[in-house]
Amino acid sequence: MDTSAFGIAIMAAGKGTRLKSKRPKVLHEIGGRALLLHVIAAAKTIAPPERIYCIIGHEAKRVRAAVAATGVDFVLQPEQCGTGHALQQVKAHFAATGAAPPAQLLVLSGDVPLIRPETLADLCKLHLRERAAMTILTAVPPNPTGYGRVLRVKADCPEVTAIVEQKSLTPSQLAAPEINSGIYCFNTSCLFAYLDSLSTDNAHGEYYLTDIAALLVADHKRVVAMKADSVEEVLGANTIAEMMHLDAAMRLATARKLMAQGVTIFRPETSVIDSGVQVGPDTIIEPFVQLLGNTRIGEDCRIRSYSVIQNSVIGDNVLVRNGCILDEAVVGSDALLGPYSHLRPGSEIGEAAHIGNFVETKKVRLGRGSKANHLSYLGDAVIGAGVNVGAGAITCNYDGVHKHTTTIGDGVFVGSDSTLVAPLTIGDRSYIAAGSCITEDVPADSLALGRSRQTTKPGWVAARKSKAKPKE
Ligand code: UD1
Ligand code: CA
Repeated sequence: MDTSAFGIAIMAAGKGTRLKSKRPKVLHEIGGRALLLHVIAAAKTIAPPERIYCIIGHEAKRVRAAVAATGVDFVLQPEQCGTGHALQQVKAHFAATGAAPPAQLLVLSGDVPLIRPETLADLCKLHLRERAAMTILTAVPPNPTGYGRVLRVKADCPEVTAIVEQKSLTPSQLAAPEINSGIYCFNTSCLFAYLDSLSTDNAHGEYYLTDIAALLVADHKRVVAMKADSVEEVLGANTIAEMMHLDAAMRLATARKLMAQGVTIFRPETSVIDSGVQVGPDTIIEPFVQLLGNTRIGEDCRIRSYSVIQNSVIGDNVLVRNGCILDEAVVGSDALLGPYSHLRPGSEIGEAAHIGNFVETKKVRLGRGSKANHLSYLGDAVIGAGVNVGAGAITCNYDGVHKHTTTIGDGVFVGSDSTLVAPLTIGDRSYIAAGSCITEDVPADSLALGRSRQTTKPGWVAARKSKAKPKE
């Protein structure tokens, strides 16, 4: 469809008082992304960012910074006096800049994030076909309480008489089932002509954008409504509980999409998967797994329960055992992690490498087939292929001021409980004796011992006991 006549205004200036939160409402997240970013993503399917006007006000600086990268334009509503007042600022913005407003204006609510691009396209299409002054997107949810209600001329005809806010419903209107989604198309010049006629004579003392409908109808302008195919996509989020309902709906949709692509997800209702996550076919995700941010997981992997994987890339055929935490890590194919491994940013685990229980890595490159199976800290290190890091071995990468690098060659054997004091280089194939504190470089093919010699005193116990005998 040709949507070139459309500009888009997104109402995102409100505080979200009902959330009882310090964070502005439109920056609360569902599916791992701010509400407003979901709405902007849907808007971009209809118009380019330079024709999207984001109305911001409460914590405007913070909201602007959070979405600036999308390239949208901003309109400031310094005081939030209602949705009608928000659109008055858009009108003032065009008057001030002298730019020509778009012929049609699609208005979106920053707190209605599940809206689908197809529905917006249908709404725009209907609006043009009906040559309407205003077209309202509606739905009939099981419980309409709290929403504005759309009253039609007759049940089965598109024409609308008014939108009535919850608090203004008369007793006979209380059961009206069709809700206003807060999403509309306007003929821009019609909208702008009527915005100044709004009043604050209502329960909230605000300028309601919804009052425009009755004003237009009174002047015989065409106001129509379109029912959305699904109720979920027009649900608003005014409270944390409503937000979490949308979050669950969005994550379930993501899980379903992945399952349709061949991923097995046991008990998908227990998983927390962000919308941007990609997973290859034949990978199995066990219950209570979190896959967050831009995480990408290959094929034939198994992610066991209670692992939290964020902004990480995992190859094919990787086993992530229970309780692993990965953040900005890269894991090669056929690797084995966990249980309880902690891969911090900059961890690059090579193909077929093993990271075992209670091993923490940070900014480390571990070569192909290398293993650190138990109780280690490996930070700021470059470790070759086929290296065995024994239980309890650690890199001392920090001297209290600076971080230093440990370089370990191919085929090195690092004995258990070794302390590798960086900066340090250990040559290929060398052995580090268990319990060593290594402070000097070790050339290739060497054995390095850094521990005091053992002393053994045979018969010592008996001697001590006889000496310690109490006197009679
Ligand atoms: C609004 C509608 C209601 C509809 C519901 C759908 C009005 C008067 N009512 O009610 O009919 O059923 O949405 O979710 O419009 N905002 C501003 N500036 C303001 C006030 C609000 O930008 O001065 C923004 C908010 O940030 C929010 C959106 O507009 O993103 C809607 O405002 P909100 O206060 O949530 O309206 P509702 O009471 O939900
Ligand atoms: Ca709302």
